[in-house]
Amino acid sequence: MEKTGTPANARDTSGHASKKGITRRQFLTYTLGGTGAFIATTMLTPLVAFAVDPLRREGGGGALSPTTWRVSDFNESLPTHVTYNQHIDDAWNSHDVPNDVYVIVYQNKLMIMSHVCTHLGCHVDGSFTNTAQTISGPAQYDSNGQKYWFHCPCHGSVYNNYGVNSPSSPAPTPLDIYEYQIVNGYVHVGRNISRTDSTWDVNPNPTIA
Ligand code: FES
Repeated sequence: MEKTGTPANARDTSGHASKKGITRRQFLTYTLGGTGAFIATTMLTPLVAFAVDPLRREGGGGALSPTTWRVSDFNESLPTHVTYNQHIDDAWNSHDVPNDVYVIVYQNKLMIMSHVCTHLGCHVDGSFTNTAQTISGPAQYDSNGQKYWFHCPCHGSVYNNYGVNSPSSPAPTPLDIYEYQIVNGYVHVGRNISRTDSTWDVNPNPTIA
């Protein structure tokens, strides 16, 4: 009677496969490696896009935009609300978009302030007064002796004349300011600059005298 036995190429009980298959360890290595590569690709792709996208680079869209404003249109007491077409000119885009800003004169320079609330980006209003609030930065008053504020209608942030956020506001930082140059007597506006409560009066722009 012929003996029955284990075939030579049968799988053993240790998990090691025959020479024709792959081991369990190899299967797990391939699976985990593929999953890791997929996750890495998913995470790195936006970072690469960010690095090469000119719109997202610092200074992107920073071309100077001509306006019809003269320095004499602005004063030291209250911000003036003005509009212009912001020119976007970079590797991928070249077009104008409407923008509006608030301009005050401070230390012989224009302080061109963004209308974008630094909390969540709503459009702030100017000429808002609220004597119940306290302010950071120098207190300013209009001709009626009222404190002058920017006010954000979304969550109630307030800013002083120079766009400095009130400590009690949800807005974490002052309003951005813009770079500018004076060309043939007219203001040309450049890119915006972020500020903090300790750098609200740092203005890299030229004097206007
Ligand atoms: S977006 Fe202005 S206070 Fe929230």
